[in-house]
Amino acid sequence: MVENPDCSAILIVDDEPNSRAILEAILTSERYQLYYATNGLEALAYAGRVIPDLILLDVMMPGMDGFEVCRRLRTDPILRDVPIVMISNLDDQQSRLQGLNAGADDYISKPFSIAELQARVRTITRLNRFRNLLTERNQLQEAFEATIDSWGRALEERDIETKKHSNRVTEMTLSIALEMGIEGDMLEHIRRGAMLHDIGKMGIPDAILLKQGPLTPSEWSIMKTHCQKAYDLLWPVEFLRPALDIPYSHHEKWDGTGYPRGLKGEEIPLAARIFCVVDVWDAMRNERPYHPPISMEDTLAYITSASGSHFDPRVVDVFLQIIHRNL
Ligand SMILES: [Fe+2]
Repeated sequence: MVENPDCSAILIVDDEPNSRAILEAILTSERYQLYYATNGLEALAYAGRVIPDLILLDVMMPGMDGFEVCRRLRTDPILRDVPIVMISNLDDQQSRLQGLNAGADDYISKPFSIAELQARVRTITRLNRFRNLLTERNQLQEAFEATIDSWGRALEERDIETKKHSNRVTEMTLSIALEMGIEGDMLEHIRRGAMLHDIGKMGIPDAILLKQGPLTPSEWSIMKTHCQKAYDLLWPVEFLRPALDIPYSHHEKWDGTGYPRGLKGEEIPLAARIFCVVDVWDAMRNERPYHPPISMEDTLAYITSASGSHFDPRVVDVFLQIIHRNL
């Protein structure tokens, strides 16, 4: 059978050739990929291979009956969420209950209405495909977040002076952002941008990045390219484009004397204006190869003095409120 990934896959399990043929006739008018099994064991083996969107399961079969097939499917870690509709000649309440207790999602007694069966199958397969899409989306999201974390760790491994720096600055940046009324997806973009703020340093040679002592003017001009390098690295990743504000613009200054573009005032994205205060605060308060930790008093005095030149005054105000609240 040629597989069509756009179609829902339905596994029809029935020992009676006639019953299989009837279900096939009912369902071929719709766009389904149909598979068949003639007994319980074959059904379990097929289900494991195909991972169908729905199993239509006959109850009365020689050997393993439908109830047992259903129970086994429900204990299989891969197949336990596959929708199962039991189709049976048994119309008594006890059989119906037994089917539902075995894990069936629905129980249809023969004779059934063709239109009703088609409608139920349509609803279940549609819901199942939607659920699968959500699962895939979540898995993609998890893989994506793990990639960001690995990039952040790779950078920390290489540039020893930024160890734990990313986590600290991310937390403080988010606190200020929240206080300034930023909400929704933008907070997530800011979190990613802060975690990856110096990702562009991956492209800076070790001799400059890890140099003990002051950089020469030409080394500085190379170091300053890390913002453009971050842009070049992240722009092709569509998911990360909204997170680019911080990696690209965190060295811009309120008075227009920063880099890489020399943006001024509110031309600088707010996320970057928030982050640059936090970045300087964290760099001053923690030990660096070229300076010991600077006291809180001196750090706050510097940040206050640079409000309106290096930093956005509104951001500095919120930053100081948070710091004083936590002192
Ligand atoms: Fe930087």
